Amino acid sequence: MILDIDKIRLDFPILQQKIYKRPLVYFDNAATTQRPQQVIDALTRTYTEYYGNIHRAAHFLADKATEAYEQTRDKARELINAENREQIIFTKGTTESINLVAFSFGEAFIQGGDEIIVSEMEHHSNIVPWQLMAGRKGAKIVMLPIDDEGRLQIENLDSLITDRTKLIAVTHVSNVLGTINPVKKIAQIAHSKGIRILIDGAQAAAHLRIDVQDLDADFYTFSAHKMYGPNGVGVLYGKKELLEKMSPYQGGGEMISEVKFAGTTYNDLPYKFEAGTPNISGVIAFGAAIDYLQQTGIENAAAWETELLNYATDQLLTIPGLRIYGTQAEKSGVISFNVEGVHFFDLGTMLDKFGIAVRTGHHCADPLMDHFGIQGTVRASFAFYNTKEEIDVFVDALKKVIAMF
Ligand code: ALA
Repeated sequence: MILDIDKIRLDFPILQQKIYKRPLVYFDNAATTQRPQQVIDALTRTYTEYYGNIHRAAHFLADKATEAYEQTRDKARELINAENREQIIFTKGTTESINLVAFSFGEAFIQGGDEIIVSEMEHHSNIVPWQLMAGRKGAKIVMLPIDDEGRLQIENLDSLITDRTKLIAVTHVSNVLGTINPVKKIAQIAHSKGIRILIDGAQAAAHLRIDVQDLDADFYTFSAHKMYGPNGVGVLYGKKELLEKMSPYQGGGEMISEVKFAGTTYNDLPYKFEAGTPNISGVIAFGAAIDYLQQTGIENAAAWETELLNYATDQLLTIPGLRIYGTQAEKSGVISFNVEGVHFFDLGTMLDKFGIAVRTGHHCADPLMDHFGIQGTVRASFAFYNTKEEIDVFVDALKKVIAMF
């Protein structure tokens, strides 16, 4: 193990606290991660030292805030190896990034009768925006199914693609199954037929090294709050030739070039898609989160999270009646499971009393729940600050809870 986890944990003040007099075990990282002091300090520093509205004033504070905001764009560009900083658009999160593409790509490129392929394992944020767009444009959504291991059946792609298919929307990592999808391969299949691909990287960006050029992603989306950064900040990466042809998603603020009642012209990328005053302090503090992640090393984090995943999986599988959903080999640190005879909600609520935070329910992925014929699961999801000792506490508590039913 390369990382000094004990030292890393000291950077995260929230992890030091006790819940119901027990040390917090935070296993809800797929929903949102916690923030290191460096990110909290960056947020505080912005508000105490250089807060002003960006891009639009001639004073010191606004200049300093603009500089820091734009620095994060450079850091995000570097993080995912985008070609140009103009391709990094700040949004309020993955959901807004996908809605932006569904709307603006839809307006520019989708006609009645066109088709979008969406995988069965998507969370609602990568299904509903396409449905809304399809409703507006008279387009059709086609589902790419998964198998019972939680693997995308990409061998079916050829039979799903028609000459009306315009885009494939797929998650890089499933928020429920942990499955790491072969998105580079899917992009190759899509591009060989002139189809575009949107990759939802919400569950990937903090856990895998992302290279949008190597993946050949047309669009890639992620959220700061799942990457040890502030909530309310996200990124949309897009290929320039597409973003340039797409009309703005929202109007107002920085997205204009010139406004006349006779007609308005729009700003250049990326500002064309950043309407209104953005989350200035959040974006600046996101820069500190990216620094933290880069210093930790995404490869180091991924290696440790895989060790945690394997350790937890082995232990959980010793529990009679426990079923894990998502069992393919290429997997990120997410374990969804049910225990025969005990409702997932009861398990989650009781685990909370042991100071253990997990998520229960459908995880905003109803179609995936339907695939497995279930209403929900318990989900434990890991970050690099988690430990094997915490997994021991979790498994021990789980056994105690099960014994109560
Ligand atoms: N999609 C997020 C999760 O899986 C909210 O918890």
